[in-house]
Amino acid sequence: MYVPPHTVTNDDLSALVETNDEWIRRRVGIAERHIAVTESTAGMAAAAARNALDNAGIAAEDLDLILCATVSADNVSPSLACMVQAALGAVCPAYDINAACSAFLFLLETAAGWFARGRAKKILVVGSERMSRIVDWSDRGTCVIFGDGAGAAVLGAGDGYLDSVITVRGGDSVIKIPCSAGKSPFWQGSCEEPYIQMNGQETFKYAVNAMCGDIQTLFNRNGLTHDDLAWIVPHQANYRIIESAAKRSGIPQEKFYLNIDRVGNTSSASVPIALDELNRSGRLQRGDKIILTAFGGGLANAACLLTW
Ligand code: UT7
Repeated sequence: MYVPPHTVTNDDLSALVETNDEWIRRRVGIAERHIAVTESTAGMAAAAARNALDNAGIAAEDLDLILCATVSADNVSPSLACMVQAALGAVCPAYDINAACSAFLFLLETAAGWFARGRAKKILVVGSERMSRIVDWSDRGTCVIFGDGAGAAVLGAGDGYLDSVITVRGGDSVIKIPCSAGKSPFWQGSCEEPYIQMNGQETFKYAVNAMCGDIQTLFNRNGLTHDDLAWIVPHQANYRIIESAAKRSGIPQEKFYLNIDRVGNTSSASVPIALDELNRSGRLQRGDKIILTAFGGGLANAACLLTW
């Protein structure tokens, strides 16, 4: 993972919008988040990627594919993956996938396809976000929940990726990040500001249902209960979403890894950042069964079952 060193506290935000530390901690579970000052989305992605390559003991030239995800790219083109490829000095194909906060899970599924066809032995997957660029800093309903950062993993061909669920309920009525309207002198359609719009309560309900449903599907299909799992690594969007999903699923909350208090919601980087923290803390053992689960814009949700 890589997060920018600059942290912004809830008290810092209360100087920008009408909010307070108590509300944010109680309703969302965030105390502080990392916010980019000079770091670009591609720069953070490359930093996380280098850390992942070091951790895996793999050289950039040994990669067969780079897959990246972001909703806050520096440029529409080149893709984030192309920028990471150049920054690392890699020579393999590279492309992006857009599935908002669930995208890391979509990257894993796509990588599984390359492995299954024997087209790759080592694949780098990266989620990187400068959410601070695309939030409306006058909207207290969104600007307090997001943070910046990147997470990456080096995947190897093998049998650790056991099962996955991917669901899309398309449409922009719940979460939307419009593009800039542009400057066409002929355009007579709508011109929205290019910032995140989100119906918080609708997203909340959808998120709890999605997380519970996806975990249950993986349990049913694989004959598992939570006793068979070492960890669930969820998208860190709101502490109360994870708490509600745990309660409704009857899974002890201690099984869910949490870092939202320090990192906030980093969209596609959220799951790999949490996974890296968990791994580096020494609490993941080889052979552990874990579930990764995420939900977000699309609406798109996904979960997968892995042997670590
Ligand atoms: O990763 C993408 C997926 N996104 C998510 O998963 C987000 C899911 N949604 C949420 O996490 C929550 O809905 C929010 C954190 C966004 C909002 O929390 P909430 O408990 O659903 O609040 P609410 O929208 O129901 O608003 C309750 C009250 C309102 O005031 P009134 O109308 O009751 O007077 C809001 O104006 O809280 C107010 N409020 C705030 N107050 C202080 C909303 N934001 C804030 C704030 N500080 N930052």
